[in-house]
Amino acid sequence: MSTEPTGGLKTTGVAPAKGKLGVMVVGLGAVATTMIAGVEAVRRGLAKPIGSLTQMGTIRLGKRTDNQSPLIKDFVPLADLNDIVFTGWDIFEDNVYESAAHAAVLDKETLAKLKPYLETIKPMPAVFDQYYVKRLHGTHVKQGKTKRELADQVIEDIRAFRKTVDRVVMIWCGSTEIFLEPTAVHLSIQNFEKGLEANDPGIAPSQIYAYAALSEGVPFANGAPNLTVDIPALVCLSKKNAAPICGKDFKTGQTLMKTVLAPAFKARMLGVKGWFSTNILGNRDGEVLDDPQSFKTKEESKLGSLEYIFQPELYPDLYKDLYHKIRINYYPPRGDEKEAWDNIDIFGWLGYPMQLKVNFLCRDSILAAPIALDLVLFLDLAKRSADLKSLGIQEWLSFYLKSPQTAEGLYPEHDLFIQSMKLKNTLRHIMGEDLITHLGLEYYD
Ligand SMILES: NC(=O)c1ccc[n+]([C@@H]2O[C@H](COP(=O)([O-])OP(=O)(O)OC[C@H]3O[C@@H](n4cnc5c(N)ncnc54)[C@H](O)[C@@H]3O)[C@@H](O)[C@H]2O)c1
Repeated sequence: MSTEPTGGLKTTGVAPAKGKLGVMVVGLGAVATTMIAGVEAVRRGLAKPIGSLTQMGTIRLGKRTDNQSPLIKDFVPLADLNDIVFTGWDIFEDNVYESAAHAAVLDKETLAKLKPYLETIKPMPAVFDQYYVKRLHGTHVKQGKTKRELADQVIEDIRAFRKTVDRVVMIWCGSTEIFLEPTAVHLSIQNFEKGLEANDPGIAPSQIYAYAALSEGVPFANGAPNLTVDIPALVCLSKKNAAPICGKDFKTGQTLMKTVLAPAFKARMLGVKGWFSTNILGNRDGEVLDDPQSFKTKEESKLGSLEYIFQPELYPDLYKDLYHKIRINYYPPRGDEKEAWDNIDIFGWLGYPMQLKVNFLCRDSILAAPIALDLVLFLDLAKRSADLKSLGIQEWLSFYLKSPQTAEGLYPEHDLFIQSMKLKNTLRHIMGEDLITHLGLEYYD
């Protein structure tokens, strides 16, 4: 079934966001704790949810002359931040306050104000196997003879939490696992379930959590570039149980910039000969990515965007010979304050060369936290939408992700502005509003 919105159909609607939304976070590290602490800071009126489209964004309805642009959260029934309840798993026992202090993204003063709340969130033991994340040694982990037993334990965690809230969503904010190619075990639900029993090495911990979530009808988002739900077995399970999924790997710093700049070059028919991207970062994510097998997973995820945006097969004169290189360097002194450099070799009229340099001094988790929050809120919305809940993949959430997931045979849209339009038109569609095409001829009649 296609996820393309179709012109202004009236729909069967969206159920209201009644009661508490339980958010189960896998991996309570830098991104997760920055999201949780941030939500609490916003709830207490200590800060604004900058960077969050669900909290700050507006959506135009009708004509430009109608002057109707409500906040997105007033237009679609999203869970209120005050109704969110967090829980999670980690391979270390640190509570969210301790983990946030270790991540050192937020300053001590802010954390001190939030400490009594953050201390109450203690991780449940994780499903972990060092084979999939070489640089970490987990101490707070579940025991089980088979992957099936571990999945059942996660299902028990979900069921217990569900008794305390009205709806549940799961998000992976855990470390990047080693690069895995899809194999036979990933092809069907049946193969996957046999693989769980047989401890198939093709099934990574992130897939055990995802399987547990989708089995329970719980939507699942993936902030890391791991294979996770990007396999037929879990796509089927997502559809079968009306548990929405989306793509993977939060689109935060360098890739965000790429998916803004590349469409601009293409729109103006400027050629690109080379794109060299390098980063330094010193947080735990950087340490994990220092392992070549985890880096490979990240590299694959980051490389895809330019290829799809430039469409070299359509524009061989402009992009056929593009050389794209990505480096990530672990450099502890910087902590979460990543610095990224891009050197872009472009060419214009008659082939004359030019260069563009981008130096982005960003904060990784400050960029990622609002994305994690938005994904959780929008997946919960999708689950309550008659139009969206049984589609499986929510392509309209590509906006947030380095590796969008699509229906089989469909190329992903990486262009941030196409993604933004798709997201907003999907919201208009599920609420029975007219789509906005930007044609605008009617203003000149
Ligand atoms: N910050 C960004 O801008 C950004 C952007 C895109 C993707 N990501 C991805 O998001 C993920 C989280 O990033 P981070 O900076 O918070 O990293 P982090 O290292 O601070 O946090 C990851 C946490 O996951 C835990 N963990 C690892 N395996 C686990 C498992 N099997 N079960 C439960 N917990 C587990 C770790 O102990 C750690 O606490 C990483 O995979 C990263 O690549 C981050």
